[in-house]
Amino acid sequence: MQFFLDTGNLDEIRTGTSWGILDGVTTNPTLVSKEGMDHRALIREIAGMVAGPISVETTTDRAEEMVTQGREYVTWAPNVIVKVPCTPEGIKAASTMRGEGIRTNVTLVFSLNQAVLAAKVGAYFVSPFLGRLDDIGEDSMILLRDIVQVYRTYDFSTQVLAASLRHPMHVAHAAKAGTDIATMPFKVMEQLFKHPLTEIGQTRFLADWRALHAELERKKTKV
Ligand code: E4P
Repeated sequence: MQFFLDTGNLDEIRTGTSWGILDGVTTNPTLVSKEGMDHRALIREIAGMVAGPISVETTTDRAEEMVTQGREYVTWAPNVIVKVPCTPEGIKAASTMRGEGIRTNVTLVFSLNQAVLAAKVGAYFVSPFLGRLDDIGEDSMILLRDIVQVYRTYDFSTQVLAASLRHPMHVAHAAKAGTDIATMPFKVMEQLFKHPLTEIGQTRFLADWRALHAELERKKTKV
């Protein structure tokens, strides 16, 4: 299972890389707009830090323009994946880009049928949005399990990238469902490490170790 950061923030990406668990990055226009940087400059900075896939989203409703943007994005770095929305125009653009060897990520996926459309046009990634589905009272885990199962049934090569993850349980559920990738905000990745018993246990181990050394020092000074 691969872990991606869903961010455009360079400090967060640097920290994720330093942990040795970061396999890629996803961005979208909202995340990029928070960084106040030129799009190309930001993606190139990210590409300098991350060797794995970097999803870069198109910013238009029209297939032709998506393809034009996609052709440009892939010149920014060799590991760029072009994001298109799961609309008729987005699927059309994904199909055209597939023909040109450009890898795509079909995003804003909320149903099994949409995920099948993405696979049919040979998208490299499909991004079901779990958090946003839960927000409207649906069970995103049913969708995720269905996508994984149907993709296996038909042996689709599109990789399932669980997106819009809001908490560590989303990541655990994504792992149980057998998704290829989970993309998450930095704060969720940080939470993956945390368990109160780990913190209590580590504090105790270090305290006992310090006590032993203090005792040894005392014995040494007595001699
Ligand atoms: C995925 O590629 C999207 O950028 C992202 O996961 C959306 O998450 P949100 O619903 O928290 O905005």
